[in-house]
Amino acid sequence: MRIDIITVLPELLVSPFSHSIMKRAQEKGLLEVYTHNLRDTTPYKQGQVDDYQFGGGAGMVMMPEPLAIAIELLQKERNYDEVIFMTPDGAMFDQKTANNLSMKTNIIIICGHYKGIDERIRQHFVTREISIGDYVLSGGELAAAVVVDAIGRLIPGVLNDETSALFDSFQDGLLAPPVYTRPANFRGWEVPEQLLCGDPKKIDNWRHEQSLKRTAERRPGLLEE
Ligand code: ADE
Repeated sequence: MRIDIITVLPELLVSPFSHSIMKRAQEKGLLEVYTHNLRDTTPYKQGQVDDYQFGGGAGMVMMPEPLAIAIELLQKERNYDEVIFMTPDGAMFDQKTANNLSMKTNIIIICGHYKGIDERIRQHFVTREISIGDYVLSGGELAAAVVVDAIGRLIPGVLNDETSALFDSFQDGLLAPPVYTRPANFRGWEVPEQLLCGDPKKIDNWRHEQSLKRTAERRPGLLEE
């Protein structure tokens, strides 16, 4: 899978993809992430990419021309399945969307800044708008990093133990059960005996019960869905 991220702050997107699972995914050739500095392709002087909004009001708006040029340069090279705009008024990102996007081949992600991007780019280029939560970030970069991480780890072969993503919270519509490691007795706090019994069926049953209990307590809405 190839992901091209259009941004005015490519520096913000270096570290999130340079470590751990995202690093390994790229080393294995399963994921390619490229960042494109919008200022490199703007036709305006001094790297200008934003301007005052028509109708007045505080805050700058990202101009359509630099974004259109950046998107079209990429689209000339290959077909893209999605052009995603990160925005707090987009559809709420969830595991189902991550699963869906992990099966795409080429994706463009646009990171907004300031008051947002000119509406005509949203109308004519963007195929999907995503929010990572009901709060406003300074820009779309951190949101894009969240989305790429969530998608990247789902690409087959990225996780060492292929099954482990299957047991993530949300993957089956439930929160994950509690987990424990050594020692079995830590300061007198014992690991549940069911996990130590050695019977895979009993362990599975216990984990499923715990998932249901945790989901009912913390996210009852998930059970209704
Ligand atoms: N850009 C700013 N805030 C955002 C959010 N909550 N989700 C996605 N992109 C954003």
